[in-house]
Amino acid sequence: MKMKMAITGKGGVGKTTFAAMISRIYAEEGYKVLAVDADPDPNLALALGFPQKITEEIVPISEMKKLVAERTNSTPGAFGKMFKINPKVDDIPERYCKEYNGVRLLTMGTVDTGGTGCFCPENVLLKKLTSHLLLQNKDIVIMDMEAGIEHLGRGTAQGVDVFIVVIEPGIRSIQTFKHVRKLAKDIGIKKIFAVANKIKNEEDKQFVLQNIDEKECLGFIHYSRAVGSSDRVNRSPYDSDNEAVEEVKKIKERLELGVF
Ligand SMILES: Nc1ncnc2c1ncn2[C@@H]1O[C@H](COP(=O)(O)OP(=O)(O)OP(=O)(O)O)[C@@H](O)[C@H]1O
Ligand SMILES: [Mg+2]
Repeated sequence: MKMKMAITGKGGVGKTTFAAMISRIYAEEGYKVLAVDADPDPNLALALGFPQKITEEIVPISEMKKLVAERTNSTPGAFGKMFKINPKVDDIPERYCKEYNGVRLLTMGTVDTGGTGCFCPENVLLKKLTSHLLLQNKDIVIMDMEAGIEHLGRGTAQGVDVFIVVIEPGIRSIQTFKHVRKLAKDIGIKKIFAVANKIKNEEDKQFVLQNIDEKECLGFIHYSRAVGSSDRVNRSPYDSDNEAVEEVKKIKERLELGVF
């Protein structure tokens, strides 16, 4: 089985928590898993349970100045100069990922463009790498993204098998789900589901089901003090709450039924 999933949703809903748990579950089952931290403010390593020492060593791809310069044939800091727009990237996942608990992690980083997007060597390398991961890579790829899918670009987004939008029982995050669903439909992506997180009671569940179709919701993860505090003590949510892990396993089963 191959699967490329992109996880998005409103800020703070639990994207990273869910990405980490499902990555660990696939790894535990023996799959080759590549987790991609595509959030400009990366923290997936911690949620995956990477030891602090490894986490501190991580340098996002966009900040690897030598690599960027070498691959794009550019001079660091030189603006307006020519550079290669088709850099070699196929060896990057293997060479620059960090591995722990059977999950390989690639931290992409970001380029500060003031929201305008830029045609600079760093961005060109990131874009090419992202499209390589989604279109040619053979692993299970789990991408933890910032909110929205606009920054992915049409061609790359089409390499994603499924978009998962994490929501919580509230209108705002459900609105984000509907927005992402519309964007995805506009570019011809059909597989898009919600995962409802931080569910405190039956009322929360009903609230979610009143606002989105049951068929679009892969399942529920309860509000868990253990998951919440795992973030404070630097532990993976996967190692913190068995019940939540079981809930994510059910979500994964439904996901596979919906995708294949
Ligand atoms: N099921 C849950 N029960 C309790 N706390 C949770 C649950 N899921 C996530 N949290 C907590 O909510 C906070 C935000 O979670 P997380 O970082 O996964 O969200 P995110 O969507 O990735 O956020 P960001 O938008 O900042 O990337 C964390 O402190 C996390 O521990
Ligand atoms: Mg996050």
